Amino acid sequence: MSTANRFGTGFSDAGADAAVVADPGVDLQSARPVGKTFLSRGHFAGRWTAEVSTNETASQAYANLAASTKFVVGSLLVKRHASTKAAAPVTTFAMVKRDAGFFPEGGDWEYVVLDAEGRLEERGKLAPCARCHAEATGDWVFGLPIEAR
Ligand code: HEC
Repeated sequence: MSTANRFGTGFSDAGADAAVVADPGVDLQSARPVGKTFLSRGHFAGRWTAEVSTNETASQAYANLAASTKFVVGSLLVKRHASTKAAAPVTTFAMVKRDAGFFPEGGDWEYVVLDAEGRLEERGKLAPCARCHAEATGDWVFGLPIEAR
């Protein structure tokens, strides 16, 4: 099975091979929604709504996000988007905390992009994601806007 298929499965097919490839500790289906749906500012401003989910490992740190926050390895943040025009799902973004040294310029997060069907489009040390997230609240993470908390 290809990396893309196995990764995508985590989003689209319940029960199937849901673990992120090469990281059995991270299961995309383990992410549970936090807060409310909101209008995304950072990504495609105003045209997409967003909903953030986290896995158990990340949930406390995300809820209490501050400048000093450090997420532990295996933390998973998922941001599902929908178009404000059609309410249909569009791209999903995710971040997975990797070992120290994996991608220091990106906070040692792996950045992941999936299409509307949950198929992997891009993953890894994605510089455009990292550059903007370097300005975030804590540990390359923005946290929910006030209206979504
Ligand atoms: C221009 C700045 C910018 C870029 C580029 C960017 N983001 Fe974001 N991202 C944000 C902002 C701002 C938020 C907070 C929620 C919102 O308003 O959309 C966010 C939220 C997130 C979240 C939810 C976790 C959090 O930080 O609260 C994930 C996951 C995420 N982005 C992934 C990505 C990925 C993957 C990429 C690259 C494909 C990317 N982002 C590129 C600005 C950006």
